[in-house]
Amino acid sequence: VKVAALIVAAGRGKRFGGELPKQYLPLGGRPVLRHSLARFAAHPDVALVRAVIHPDDRDLYDAAAHGLTTLLEPVPGGAERQDSVRLGLESLVEAAPDVVLIHDGARPLIDGALIDRVIAALGEQPGAIPALPVADTLKRGNGRLIGETVERANLWRAQTPQGFRFPDLLAAHRAAAGRTLTDDAAVLEAAGASVALVEGAEDNVKITTPIDLARAESLFRGPGEPRIG
Ligand code: CTP
Ligand code: MG
Repeated sequence: VKVAALIVAAGRGKRFGGELPKQYLPLGGRPVLRHSLARFAAHPDVALVRAVIHPDDRDLYDAAAHGLTTLLEPVPGGAERQDSVRLGLESLVEAAPDVVLIHDGARPLIDGALIDRVIAALGEQPGAIPALPVADTLKRGNGRLIGETVERANLWRAQTPQGFRFPDLLAAHRAAAGRTLTDDAAVLEAAGASVALVEGAEDNVKITTPIDLARAESLFRGPGEPRIG
């Protein structure tokens, strides 16, 4: 199986704020995006790795990707994440991978074992996503009052990388263009395909706000390692 990874990194990070998009901020002394790229580039079963970036970020990308010689040329993304994914998929048509993994550039702590689990599940189903069970009790609000308590059983927090058979995901994205879907699995669910849930990882945080970056920094250094300064 020929596996490609698309690392989507064209967002502007509005919730994070600040000048520099969050995927280019340092984590362990290197840009967040570098970690995401390097971990896929180093995976033995991933043949192709391509980033989807904002056209304004080309210099930042080049610095982040420096020395990672196996990466494909980055391609420009679009206004919404879904558009960035679709543009990335279109850029892989010629390479024609069997399987594609879509990963958030803003999830730098992805590890090889999680990538393995997603790829393995794709032998059985056309799609697979890592997820963790919801621990908190969930309430559906009615304004600032509780409308109802949502049954927590069978609720999962979706992560990335989300893996799919390439032709299926490409077709689903083409069909979904113009409608807004929250993740790639939703694109395939909308097309009626089964998507497997595989075990996610608590460390695989998405950097959304500055608190997430601080948390990633502490996870990155590992507990018990001495801190200097
Ligand atoms: N992304 C993208 N293209 C977009 C929007 C998002 O490639 N038009 C990417 C982001 O760069 C990120 C991932 O999708 O790696 C997850 O999106 P999110 O965490 O929402 O990042 P942003 O959209 O940048 O942040 P915000 O929603 O706070 O603006
Ligand atoms: Mg966003």
